[in-house]
Amino acid sequence: MITLIAGTNRPDSNTLKLTQYYQKQLANKGCQAQVLDLKDLPENLISSDLYGKRSPEFQKIQDQISASDKFLFVIPEYNGSFPGVLKTFVDACKFPDSFKGKKAALVGLSSGKYGNVRGLEHFTGICHYIHLNVLSLRIHISAIDQELNADGELWKEDTVKFTDQQMELFLNF
Ligand SMILES: Cc1cc2nc3c(=O)[nH]c(=O)nc-3n(C[C@H](O)[C@H](O)[C@H](O)COP(=O)(O)O)c2cc1C
Repeated sequence: MITLIAGTNRPDSNTLKLTQYYQKQLANKGCQAQVLDLKDLPENLISSDLYGKRSPEFQKIQDQISASDKFLFVIPEYNGSFPGVLKTFVDACKFPDSFKGKKAALVGLSSGKYGNVRGLEHFTGICHYIHLNVLSLRIHISAIDQELNADGELWKEDTVKFTDQQMELFLNF
């Protein structure tokens, strides 16, 4: 199973729009992937699901992660890196079984110039620590407000081309 993870819990995020774009494009290629939006994490995650605790609500998400063998993380740039909620989510997942030996692709986005280059570097280091193999083609989308149209779709030729290339590589990874 493939899970696409929208790496923020910010309401109405561009991250979720981009994640849903990937889901739609992957479906066009015959791949049905599920989306995990970090907005759907338990509200009390930091008290209910860290350090050996496990709520029934998070257990459902853990089961989804355990059943997945490939992940695509869509990660916004927050203060020059990835959002803290994404690291909290990884910390809450069972270690090392959740991600060990599995595969991931990474997509960064930002409203600024850099498309979360540094955040994806930071997150790649974490992926390696949890034994999650990262696809070498990582995508960085800067000025995201100019990249998504009113339907939440990418429309610029280059961006469509490179994201499509990443999806093809991801499917064959
Ligand atoms: C807490 C926070 C910190 C942010 N820091 C940065 C930043 O360092 N660089 C940048 O280009 N954009 C930054 N942004 C803007 C996001 O990149 C922008 O909101 C973009 O749409 C992706 O985030 P979203 O999925 O929450 O919409 C920040 C946004 C938030 C909410």
